[in-house]
Amino acid sequence: MNEQIEAYAKRLKLSWIRENYHEVEASNNHEYLLKLFEKEVQNREERKVNLLLSQAQLPKIGNQPYQWEHIQIPQGISRTTVLDGDFITEKENLILYGGVGTGKTYLATLISLNAIHRFGSRVKFYTVASLVNKLIEANQQGSLAKIMKQIEKLDLLVLDELGYIPLHKEGAELLFQVISMCYENKSIIITTNLQFGQWNHVFGDPILTEAVIDRLIHHSHLLLFTGDSFRYKESLLHG
Ligand SMILES: Nc1ncnc2c1ncn2[C@@H]1O[C@H](COP(=O)(O)OP(=O)(O)OP(=O)(O)O)[C@@H](O)[C@H]1O
Ligand SMILES: [Mg+2]
Repeated sequence: MNEQIEAYAKRLKLSWIRENYHEVEASNNHEYLLKLFEKEVQNREERKVNLLLSQAQLPKIGNQPYQWEHIQIPQGISRTTVLDGDFITEKENLILYGGVGTGKTYLATLISLNAIHRFGSRVKFYTVASLVNKLIEANQQGSLAKIMKQIEKLDLLVLDELGYIPLHKEGAELLFQVISMCYENKSIIITTNLQFGQWNHVFGDPILTEAVIDRLIHHSHLLLFTGDSFRYKESLLHG
């Protein structure tokens, strides 16, 4: 009989039940069935979250509480709506702008984690440099369409560190294609140390830069990070 139960559970893709049904204790049939279903659903949700987390490739972060004192948030959104990722359901963008070590990557990561846990969002975190390298490589190998499809399936694309490295023409154009594809379809979070006026130095072409900025700032919120570097403060504290 056990074999049959396991075979049915397998066919129905009830993997938690298949492996654990004999350990569940209950005082009647209803309670037993309820416990089985509850555990199966729980287990599925956990597996889904773990899969989303591994696909997102987020940077590791600590668990110190997030300090907001030096972050200017525009009207129309709040700390809570930023953290809760409400802008993702609205398909809006966030631009996190400020100096080094002020918490841009940290915030982008926290938002990504919340979105995965709260909404089961499909998130992917890239530094601009790593995405652009990947796009160039794919373009040369004829597999660009495949990466574009993967990005198209996301709910949130995080592009970290725009501005630290200038792009070559091919890279700039490919990044524009990605931003253009995401426009009004999904959310992007961009972290940058450059004001819009200087993005030209990254994209290398004023017309392309204008087209990028135009798409990004339509439906977006700009957060200003005005503090000193947390890395510097931490190193002072810990010597
Ligand atoms: N708001 C914050 N509250 C508490 N700790 C913070 C905060 N922001 C940053 N930190 C700490 O400072 C470290 C550096 O922050 P983060 O990497 O987010 O900076 P950044 O703005 O992305 O800098 P860079 O432009 O150099 O990439 C974090 O790993 C974290 O330990
Ligand atoms: Mg960073």
